[in-house]
Amino acid sequence: MTPRIFLIGFMGSGKSALAQPLAECLRWDVVDMDDFIEKKHLKTVGQLFEKLGEAKFREIECSVLEEISQCENTIISTGGGCPCFFDNMQTMLLRGVCIYLKLSVEELTKRLLKSHIDRPLIRGRSEEELLQFIRQKLEEREPFYSQSQLIIDCNGKSKTEIVEEIFKKITTFAEK
Ligand code: S3P
Repeated sequence: MTPRIFLIGFMGSGKSALAQPLAECLRWDVVDMDDFIEKKHLKTVGQLFEKLGEAKFREIECSVLEEISQCENTIISTGGGCPCFFDNMQTMLLRGVCIYLKLSVEELTKRLLKSHIDRPLIRGRSEEELLQFIRQKLEEREPFYSQSQLIIDCNGKSKTEIVEEIFKKITTFAEK
């Protein structure tokens, strides 16, 4: 069995929300990458983007990944952009099992319309702008996300159904 699982996917795909129930199933710990960054730097992700810029945030994210990817028996909920910068995707593939939580552009837009204030990349966009932004960004990011060892289609599924599906798949994966 792998010592760690990385939950990967676009903003709003449910990485943080699924990490906890999944960890409970496995009796593992949870590390949320954005929370970890915020505690370490005593600033919110929004403040870090604003004060230091995105490029610097990506450097911080990369060094934090290096640190947290040493944790054992841990579900790591990653930031949506993390797999797409530096060698981060490679690092995660080598150190654990990556699970891509896949959702349609329409579903992501619906979810992110409700929670875009806290997210610097999408703050202040109208519904139409948000849809266009997600469509374009997802197209850029898919080639990274899709390298994951497991891809879970989350469209139309409840949290419980997704957790059960992941649990079944990782136990099968561990037997191979
Ligand atoms: C980002 C996603 C965010 C956060 C930052 C950048 C991205 O994390 O790391 O705002 O580039 O997609 P969530 O995916 O947890 O919202």
